[in-house]
Amino acid sequence: MAETAKLTLGDKTYELPIHVGTENERSIDITNLRAETGYITHDPGYGNTGSCLSAITFIDGEKGILRYRGIPIEELAEKSTFLEVAYLLIVGNLPKAGELSTFTESIRRHTMIHEDFKAFFGALPKDAHPMASCSAAVGALSTFYPDSLDPRDQRQVEISIHRTLAKFPTLAAYAYKHSIGQPFMYPKNSLDYVGNFLYMMFGNPCEEYEVDPVIEKAIDLLLILHADHEQNCSTSSVRLVGSSKVNIFGAISAGINALWGPLHGGANQQVIEMLAAIRDEGVTGREFVERAKTRNDTSRLMGFGHRVYKNFDPRAKIIKKACFDVLDKLGVHSKMLEIAVELEEIALKDDYFVERKLYPNVDFYSGVIYNAIGTPSNMFTALFALGRMPGWIAQWSELHRDTEFKIGRPRQTYIGEPLTAYTPIAER
Ligand code: ACO
Repeated sequence: MAETAKLTLGDKTYELPIHVGTENERSIDITNLRAETGYITHDPGYGNTGSCLSAITFIDGEKGILRYRGIPIEELAEKSTFLEVAYLLIVGNLPKAGELSTFTESIRRHTMIHEDFKAFFGALPKDAHPMASCSAAVGALSTFYPDSLDPRDQRQVEISIHRTLAKFPTLAAYAYKHSIGQPFMYPKNSLDYVGNFLYMMFGNPCEEYEVDPVIEKAIDLLLILHADHEQNCSTSSVRLVGSSKVNIFGAISAGINALWGPLHGGANQQVIEMLAAIRDEGVTGREFVERAKTRNDTSRLMGFGHRVYKNFDPRAKIIKKACFDVLDKLGVHSKMLEIAVELEEIALKDDYFVERKLYPNVDFYSGVIYNAIGTPSNMFTALFALGRMPGWIAQWSELHRDTEFKIGRPRQTYIGEPLTAYTPIAER
């Protein structure tokens, strides 16, 4: 007999079905809870709420395990490429050689954006944060491509997915070029996905730009590591917004905004600014860690802690190693890296961090690499968004194929005023 949970409310006992995941994770199905009992659940921050059954990404936060479609992140990081991982996440399996080249060619051919995007970016203030520009630009794709907006039409969905993946690097690079007042660089489709992005970011029309293979490989790796992370804040935003059956561009635009926040992807910018402040203000690592522990001080140790990982974030381990490799190959000496290593060592031995199981997360070392290759700190989170794109797309697609599909609509427990009569303005 299938496993169930028993819930007793007053003198009545209810049986609730239990879902058992591939890795033996268990969730109590409360789909009919309110209808049968009149009760709802209370779970601020959704720390105990499973919002879906998903076959995309598996995380075991206690053991520090991350897998995409069953494949360990360590193997993908070592053997795969970002576009192959994107295919894996979106389609569900590793592509055969022919499938990968068809997919890659389609992405390669969709990189150009409508010429009117120049006017679009031109209308934004120069100091606009690139994440705001990127979110607006992805939302605006829906205005340029009204022929691929219907989430129920498979052909339109496929085209919109390829457009999103292919055009986002161009949009992100345009956002950056606009902020520094340089001409936009058209994509050069003889280059690979990451090389093309680097070219549009760092090239200019006056000089030849050669993609450095060390940098290209490092960014490709970082994109793989950021490609999906199950039901985090931005992905849940994509799913929630997408559940209204809005088009994919609108849903992903919402995800970009969610990612921007400093408690989520925006932490990568905060980390490098924290490291720079420590370097420039002469604060010692020990002093900073003490400050991060103080409740009345707002400075947390950015890039530390995670809702799910209560052990090392496997991505952080890979990025730390890559950080040393890349900086070594580029011949860069980074004071920021030294400070980061010192902070990590202090925090990992400190009771406060040990008791709360706070470890470096994906954002702790990534910024050091971005910084070493000359990326301005306000573009870090846009690079995260570039990496997360296949995950958002895969999760959006899975949502629309879900047989349990429903518009997302949490409930609440109302704690405001009871029934109150309207007071005319003269009597208030
Ligand atoms: N520095 C200092 N203290 C911390 C930190 C930190 N980085 N992170 C958590 N804590 C403390 C909290 O103050 C809290 O202490 P308390 O129990 O005494 O009140 C305890 O650890 C638990 O923290 P919560 O905020 O309740 O944990 P939650 O799961 O809600 O938050 C989060 C996770 C948001 C990632 C948090 O650890 C944080 O703010 N980290 C810094 C920001 C960051 O790096 N975000 C990126 C996360 S990875 C990603 O989204 C891509």
